[in-house]
Amino acid sequence: MLIRRPSDLRPSEITSPELFHGRRRFLQGALAAGAAAAFGLPAVASAGEKLPNVVKSPYRVDEPLTPYDAVTEYNNFYELGTGKDDPQRNAARLKPKPWTVEIAGACEQPGRVGFDDLIAGLALEERVYRHRCVEAWSMVVPWVGVPLGQVLAKYKPLSSAKYVAFTTLMDPQQFPGQRLPVLEWPYREGLRMDEALHPLTILAVGVYGEVLPNQNGAPLRLVVPWKYGFKGIKSIVKIEFVEHEPRTSWNLAAPDEYGFYANVNPAVDHPRWSQKRERRIGDWLKRDTLAFNGYGEQVASLYSGMDLRKSF
Ligand code: MTE
Repeated sequence: MLIRRPSDLRPSEITSPELFHGRRRFLQGALAAGAAAAFGLPAVASAGEKLPNVVKSPYRVDEPLTPYDAVTEYNNFYELGTGKDDPQRNAARLKPKPWTVEIAGACEQPGRVGFDDLIAGLALEERVYRHRCVEAWSMVVPWVGVPLGQVLAKYKPLSSAKYVAFTTLMDPQQFPGQRLPVLEWPYREGLRMDEALHPLTILAVGVYGEVLPNQNGAPLRLVVPWKYGFKGIKSIVKIEFVEHEPRTSWNLAAPDEYGFYANVNPAVDHPRWSQKRERRIGDWLKRDTLAFNGYGEQVASLYSGMDLRKSF
């Protein structure tokens, strides 16, 4: 994965959320009014639109939020380019509506389900989570989503389901990055069943109270706050219940560098850099990285008896 220093960030990326939103809403309103006047189009729910009925979850860290434009303009999404600002620049290529997810493998109710049905009946929650990338930068992000466990329960996993495997959309038209052999496409990720069912694990559909922008993984992406960011697979089209540990993209690409578990762990360095400290986007000074990204109290017990140097 490539590293760009926060000192390379444009000043626009550190605007306060309040200021940015004010400016952005004005532009959105003007653009929407212009389009409606020109084409008589009704408004459609899309990136940037406010999500209704979002409840504030008690799962929130009390730390300053990373500004909206840093969260949405400093991204990793190799299908849309390997530079940090490529995903935002190429975002319009992805068409997140309509969207269907295939539910497969060891469950009582496999099948294909539309995005709305997938999350139907579940409350949308705002969770403020630390987001720690394996490249040693971090953010604090107000995701909006639903607990993954509640989604999975709808499809009644069988007892043989020990892991959950996730796959991103494969479509080089929408994702030009898939024409390059940077990774084995489509992007794949996985969790052990107990990790997938843990209440901290969510499927995010929004950020900052609004529909998820394409560059952040619209229309739905995984967020597992105690793991490195690469576990947070974007634009998911397949969720499969499986018996054995699934192969995952970064682990396939460089197994010595990116493990299956990828728990944030300052005691286990990446072979090419230290994981002891991290740069919070917008800060000048580095800070200590916390074990399990600070969520140890909630999740350390999932790994009791495991050697986390081996299972990194
Ligand atoms: N998902 C897909 N499909 N493709 C990717 O390249 N990058 C991962 C993860 N999910 C990636 C992906 C990495 S390395 C990180 S750090 C996070 O997305 C970044 O999420 P963000 O850009 O929303 O902060």
